[in-house]
Amino acid sequence: MATSEQIRLLIVEDVPQVAQYIRGLLNAQTQIKLLDVLTDGSKAVAQAQQLRPDVVLVDHLLQGRMKGPAVIEQLRALEVPVVALTVPQNPLRPDPAKGIFAVLSMPFSGYDLITRIGEVQQMLRATDRLGSARLVAVYAAKGGVGKTTIAFNLAVAAGQLGFRTVLIDGSLQFGDLRSLVKVPLDAPSLLDLPTDRIQESDLADVLWRDPSGIDLLLAPPRVEMAEMVTVRDIDKILSLLRRVYEVIVVDTTAVLSEITLSFLDASDTIVNVVTYDSTTIHNTIAVADTFRSIGYPASKVRYLVNRADSSGGIAAEDLARTLGRVPEYSVVSDGRLVVQSNNEGLPFVLANPSAQVSQDIVRTATDLLGAGRVAAAARR
Ligand SMILES: Nc1ncnc2c1ncn2[C@@H]1O[C@H](COP(=O)(O)OP(=O)(O)OP(=O)(O)O)[C@@H](O)[C@H]1O
Ligand SMILES: [Mg+2]
Repeated sequence: MATSEQIRLLIVEDVPQVAQYIRGLLNAQTQIKLLDVLTDGSKAVAQAQQLRPDVVLVDHLLQGRMKGPAVIEQLRALEVPVVALTVPQNPLRPDPAKGIFAVLSMPFSGYDLITRIGEVQQMLRATDRLGSARLVAVYAAKGGVGKTTIAFNLAVAAGQLGFRTVLIDGSLQFGDLRSLVKVPLDAPSLLDLPTDRIQESDLADVLWRDPSGIDLLLAPPRVEMAEMVTVRDIDKILSLLRRVYEVIVVDTTAVLSEITLSFLDASDTIVNVVTYDSTTIHNTIAVADTFRSIGYPASKVRYLVNRADSSGGIAAEDLARTLGRVPEYSVVSDGRLVVQSNNEGLPFVLANPSAQVSQDIVRTATDLLGAGRVAAAARR
């Protein structure tokens, strides 16, 4: 969303006139947020860790204790992308392996500056998505329709199909998974991740390894702690998890808060749970409108009818007509198995794999994640 789109820029430049020129160019726009201008290269790493820029502009000809190339090398180790500033007499080529994602040669215009920085950001977004996990958000426009139950079992089914899977509790206030899976109160949560530069090695400490074979990223243990999580934290966490896992499932909440939207924005597919209940259907239509106006393509959303065999008098055709399409998935109701498994903190797909409700979930997972991958996983 708009606020998280702004690119955070740090500049390392010791020539005051050049720094002043760039400040002037940046003043005329809002796409890039200038965090600070450092004149001393040896402060770059500490400041980058503190300010968390998306991109750092470094003068390759930087003088002083630490020269330009050394600063760039240090930032590369931190995985912070650099735009290198140079002069025609000192030609440079972009080389992402060395941390130089783009080169800006003097003299340059405001347009050059902004496009170069924008390109770097886009390049990173693209690689973040490429070759990385599939993110499935389980959403419903109304509470209590089975989001948490379905998200948990869908994630476990993905794990069974051979995908390295993490399940995120996106219901930050109530942390539904904490009570479902019955973790101890001091089990780590999303809040235990360092917010500055999160590293892959930090992940092991904050994930809950469930006996069902998947990892869980839990919500904070107390309601009021949910406020401490920002959209920016979510973006960072997701980009890190994408590198480590093949499938990310998120359990969300009905309220379209900024946090919920950030999960939905990031997801490849939204599994939108509906039930044969007029309020749920009404809310689902309203949200479908919102999704359209945000610009989500229709193919991003898949409808899943939960408790599909208890229609309460509403015909399947009526539901399809109201939604404007036939729901892709359905899961039957199984009060005994589902409630008992939930009470024991077990996924029903493992407790009773041959039950219809389990098979419905596995079919959904297979379809969502691609049969090709499933066959490949089965061969491993
Ligand atoms: N297919 C099903 N068959 C039988 N019971 C079900 C089924 N799906 C969900 N339930 C039951 O419905 C209740 C609500 O489910 P769940 O907590 O997963 O919903 P939710 O959408 O996550 O709710 P909330 O909005 O509170 O987060 C639970 O008691 C669960 O056991
Ligand atoms: Mg829930």
